[in-house]
Amino acid sequence: MFFNLFGFGDSIGIDLGTATVLVYVKGKGIVLREPSVVAIDKSTNSVLAVGEEARKMIGKTPGSIVAVRPLKEGVISDYDTTERMLKYFIEKAGGRHAFAKPTIAVCVPSAVTSVERRAVEDATRQAGARKVLIIEEPIAAAIGAGIDIAKACGSMVVDIGGGTTDVAVISLGGNVVSTSIKVAGDNFDEAIIKYMRRKHNVLIGERTAEELKINVGTAFPRTMSVNMDVRGRDLVTGLPKLINVTSEEMYDALVEPVEAIVNAVHGVLEKTPPELAADIADRGIVMTGGGSLLYGLDKIIADRTKINTIIADDAVSCVARGTGNFIEYIEGGAERKKVSKKREKHAEQAHRRREKSGRRERR
Ligand SMILES: Nc1ncnc2c1ncn2[C@@H]1O[C@H](COP(=O)(O)OP(=O)(O)O)[C@@H](O)[C@H]1O
Ligand SMILES: [Mg+2]
Repeated sequence: MFFNLFGFGDSIGIDLGTATVLVYVKGKGIVLREPSVVAIDKSTNSVLAVGEEARKMIGKTPGSIVAVRPLKEGVISDYDTTERMLKYFIEKAGGRHAFAKPTIAVCVPSAVTSVERRAVEDATRQAGARKVLIIEEPIAAAIGAGIDIAKACGSMVVDIGGGTTDVAVISLGGNVVSTSIKVAGDNFDEAIIKYMRRKHNVLIGERTAEELKINVGTAFPRTMSVNMDVRGRDLVTGLPKLINVTSEEMYDALVEPVEAIVNAVHGVLEKTPPELAADIADRGIVMTGGGSLLYGLDKIIADRTKINTIIADDAVSCVARGTGNFIEYIEGGAERKKVSKKREKHAEQAHRRREKSGRRERR
């Protein structure tokens, strides 16, 4: 039996992130949130699992099964896998129904090429969309953060995901100045792994590194030190070892990637036209994406730029919400245009009528 979950003419926004895929359905909110991971059997080249299920298989499967993150670093390394992943998520969210072909907006990392964008568009259409819109990430992030992008007023959005950080100045619905760097949340984890190896001679896993980052990670000195015990493998003895890690250590570990992000923000500000820069100074910088939740990242950006910096509400789902709402923005825009065209036509007709009657009167 089929359930018509979406109904005709519904709007769906998909945030095709490097770390997480989120599906937003208008009126329902976020209906799906899963890691952008696909498990593939290399011997048969078949997809075994997608999303959460695929992630669970990592490290627990025989050698021929590999877990792939098709969007790692913001480029589509593997088109086929991306397509299969996208279809799976759309179907899981309830989108495949002959009578309920929805409009689907997809936000892709800004580093993807036009060929890759088209590939995503095709895959989305094949997965059952009536209409597909592909959106630039900073625009979606801005809409999701509640910024009125149509205004002639500059706003700066810094979106920090897993693989890429996007910094953009937006005005009148477009990207005025922007940059995308391949330094983001995943690089924080890598920096922590490197630090633990260098300082403690201990090898820790990716998950442990992420836990350290979330719990004691620090981008700006904390007023109160925090610490956490983690288990790793001693590189000298080869045996498990328990280590206490402090937030001061994590500050040292994270300096390099944090600096790279601060420099990217600075670089965009330098290229921003003065009037828009003044708007940004007034309104502040808005941060979105999971990576922006690293402790003190907002504080260090505020400290260096001297501009008030805030983390958007529900920063992780900002882009997905913005992508869903973008459909209304676009369709609203088309509607506005239609209305104003109608008005123009009416005005023209009225003008012609007046002219005609004027002529008649003169006769
Ligand atoms: N509380 C947190 N503190 C620090 N980093 C976090 C936190 N929550 C999530 N992250 C990080 O955010 C990144 C994923 O962000 P997300 O916006 O989902 O990425 P993407 O848009 O690329 O899929 C990961 O590197 C994850 O570790
Ligand atoms: Mg993202």
